[in-house]
Amino acid sequence: MCGIVGAVAQRDVTEILLEGLKRLEYRGYDSAGVAVIHQGELQRTRRVGKVQELVNALDEQPLPGGTGIAHTRWATHGEPSERNAHPHQSAGDIAVVHNGIIENHAELREQLQALGYQFESDTDTEVIGHLVHHELKSNNSLLAAVQATVKQLEGAYGTVVIDRRDSERMVVARSGSPLVVGFGLGENFVASDIMALLPVTRKFAYLEEGDVAEITRRSVSIFDAAGNAVTREAKETEVSHDTGDKGEYRHYMLKEIHEQPLALARTLDQRISSGKVIADAFGDNAEALLKDIRHVQIIACGTSYHAAMTARYWLEQWAGVSCNVEIASEFRYRKSFTFPNSLLVTISQSGETADTLAALRLAKEMGYKASLTICNVPGSSLVRESDMAYMMKAGAEIGVASTKAFTVQLAGLLMLTAVIGRNNGMGSDVEAAMVHSLQSLPAKVEQTLALDEAIAALAEDFADKSHALFLGRGEQYPIAMEGALKLKEISYIHAEAYASGELKHGPLALIDADMPVIVVAPNNELLEKLKSNVEEVRARGGLMYVFADVDAKFRSDDTMKVIPVPHCDEFIAPIIYTLPLQLLSYHVALIKGTDVDQPRNLAKSVTVE
Ligand code: F6R
Repeated sequence: MCGIVGAVAQRDVTEILLEGLKRLEYRGYDSAGVAVIHQGELQRTRRVGKVQELVNALDEQPLPGGTGIAHTRWATHGEPSERNAHPHQSAGDIAVVHNGIIENHAELREQLQALGYQFESDTDTEVIGHLVHHELKSNNSLLAAVQATVKQLEGAYGTVVIDRRDSERMVVARSGSPLVVGFGLGENFVASDIMALLPVTRKFAYLEEGDVAEITRRSVSIFDAAGNAVTREAKETEVSHDTGDKGEYRHYMLKEIHEQPLALARTLDQRISSGKVIADAFGDNAEALLKDIRHVQIIACGTSYHAAMTARYWLEQWAGVSCNVEIASEFRYRKSFTFPNSLLVTISQSGETADTLAALRLAKEMGYKASLTICNVPGSSLVRESDMAYMMKAGAEIGVASTKAFTVQLAGLLMLTAVIGRNNGMGSDVEAAMVHSLQSLPAKVEQTLALDEAIAALAEDFADKSHALFLGRGEQYPIAMEGALKLKEISYIHAEAYASGELKHGPLALIDADMPVIVVAPNNELLEKLKSNVEEVRARGGLMYVFADVDAKFRSDDTMKVIPVPHCDEFIAPIIYTLPLQLLSYHVALIKGTDVDQPRNLAKSVTVE
């Protein structure tokens, strides 16, 4: 949430900052801004809306400078407007960008106003700039002033500060919001995500919680919260440079939907051998840590939460362990019970979701045997703070609506079911069948994605609808929830999902010809029950769209359009039935003309609670 880029170089850094912002735009797109130091002066340009607005402004009036900071905003305090856009300034000397929320900003604002500081914005961030300016009156370096400032801040921040009077330096601080330092040759960088800096460097060091770093062209000095000089290991990233490109696709979301066969193949590669899942896929010590697990608690948000809900069916049915699933923002604020021999699992594409991270930190005090994260971003906070990590290898996901991350999470969770299950007496024949299904995934996904054209035609029916209902049973219930979330977030159609057995307990009252009902119907033991639920809808004049196994014997008629889905094993059916729902939401959004990759009010990587 919010993207930050900073650079200190001998060359003009504005292009680097703008390219970085474009690559981070998925983290927030309410406004964007840049500030540079040029010939001892601080110069700033900010624009409301997308980064392109800022690019256009800088094309007209360039802003050269060797030291600069830039920001793309997802508004928290203060409406999206130019005066609330970052960077914020203090007295024309200090410029600051910030990601996070300063909780005691109102109190600090009053204190600074009493000292004579005038505020130009409604943001919490502006207090940081004024505090640094004030602290510079009694501290003799920008570093010391920032260190003194962060001691007064409550809340979360990743922040970068520059001072026009000290033009070859930036000072950065991290607490609760990720920041990564990028090392160049005679130039150094900072960003909230390595994606921003891939065009200029491949060598990165992640700052730890409480770190403050002073970055010049030739040096990076890092200090921990106590002020001690520390080393944070700098590593070459394996992420490829072109991950930010849309390639031949019109949208990142479509590209990412079609990347699923490859993403799944990558996540399975070298993690399966002789019909078994290799426990090391979950980390070096996983064999020992995953032994004797009797209970699994999974915590996640949004789409990742739907993956967790699906895994509950698998873990209880196949691995023979009990499993609780909870939304991170709920788990972190309630007292919960820890069962003996319990494994804590967090699921997160970004590895930086504030609520999930807070839940992990809380859980560490609660007596879990071990923590495991299923995560897509190497080096992210969840990966660093968990005992074990299953790295998803989905590749960068840029579209705000999560697609390939979800199916890859599901594949990882099925593998986890296999490892925990075999320690718990699950037959090797069951594991072999699971592994066989997993290996069939890339081809089966490819085959299912061929439904694209048929689904595009179907999407026309939804363009004038305001509501939709998604139905599924068993492990397809979370898939229905995921389908509803996708439709909501990118097409702005109100959608709800129900376990179809629940229909007659209330939602049937909603059914009429204006409420399309989408049903996911693999050929499993619940099929006949599901068919009865379909009849209940039909009897009340509902119009249905049924994604059904080719052998499920549904027939299209006036009240029902049946879209045959290739037959697949039951283990992987949740993954396969997700695909048509992703495509449906994409095509409906296209017809409605919404911003598919950057839907309104949202941002990727939710680093504030
Ligand atoms: C929906 C979506 C969000 C994320 C949620 C958690 O398409 O992308 O619901 O799934 O914000 O994010 P991660 O997985 O990064 O923790």
